[in-house]
Amino acid sequence: MEKKNKFDLDKIDFSHLVPKNNYKKPSEQEFSAFKSKVEHLINLDLTHYKSNQMERRINTLMNRNGIENLMVYYNLLKKDPDKLREFINMLTINVTEFFRNKEKFEELENDHLPQIIKNSTNIKVWSAGCSIGAEIYSLAMLFDKFGVLNKVDLVASDFDKEILNKAQSGIYAENELKLLDKAYTKYFTPLDPEKKRFQISKKLIDSVRFERRDLLNSTFEKNFDLILCRNVVIYFTEEAKDELYAKFYNSLKPGGILFIGSTERINNYKDIGFDLTSSFFYKKW
Ligand SMILES: C[S@@+](CC[C@H](N)C(=O)[O-])C[C@H]1O[C@@H](n2cnc3c(N)ncnc32)[C@H](O)[C@@H]1O
Repeated sequence: MEKKNKFDLDKIDFSHLVPKNNYKKPSEQEFSAFKSKVEHLINLDLTHYKSNQMERRINTLMNRNGIENLMVYYNLLKKDPDKLREFINMLTINVTEFFRNKEKFEELENDHLPQIIKNSTNIKVWSAGCSIGAEIYSLAMLFDKFGVLNKVDLVASDFDKEILNKAQSGIYAENELKLLDKAYTKYFTPLDPEKKRFQISKKLIDSVRFERRDLLNSTFEKNFDLILCRNVVIYFTEEAKDELYAKFYNSLKPGGILFIGSTERINNYKDIGFDLTSSFFYKKW
């Protein structure tokens, strides 16, 4: 005789185990009141972030913290630095890596940097939205390879103060370096016998000017040969992106290059005045 299953899984009610999301979509006024309070708290202009995406991500965090009301969530952010950090991380997503999109960095090294080094006397480069510094230090290593690091003005900016502090410390965990080519490991010194943390060379740290800057609410320096703004604009509205790319254009020298992320494109690049030299590299004429 066939043995009967003691439990029929399909018939058991597991609903009590699923986290409940009682979040009710806030009215436009509620959401904008929350936004303007949070803007003061984190010192970042949120007007130009896509509202729907931001709301979805805020909803996820509120749900994770068992909160159903935006103002209750705001009060939590105000008094709990860890929750505020979680909120900022969610908003900005600071994932990065050294030589991110390696083939594009190779193109930069082989095609663009030699031109810049040949044509420019005061080389100026900006990593806009630099996160923990992997991007700007990758550039510093390349300029060092060309033997011109001491002649280059490297600027790295981010709106997030804490992330900038990490960038400036130049300290990285083992796993943050695991994809790094052997040729560049000479720049990293282990900070402990187990080789769990490494510090990048002082020469590279000293070659970079780090600054806090909200890209959507600040005036930009001029005369850059190269600007990298990669994987930063994903949550910006289309209008904010248009405005930002035009501002980058104005900050470049004639012949200067804007290097963007590998999932990004500038639709109206011709209207701005750019030429597309190859995917993700835009040149100012
Ligand atoms: C995903 S990381 C990109 C890091 C690096 N550019 C790369 O491609 O690997 C995005 C960074 O942009 C910064 N960011 C986001 N919005 C910003 C804004 N309005 N102004 C300045 N930085 C911003 C975040 O803090 C974050 O560190």
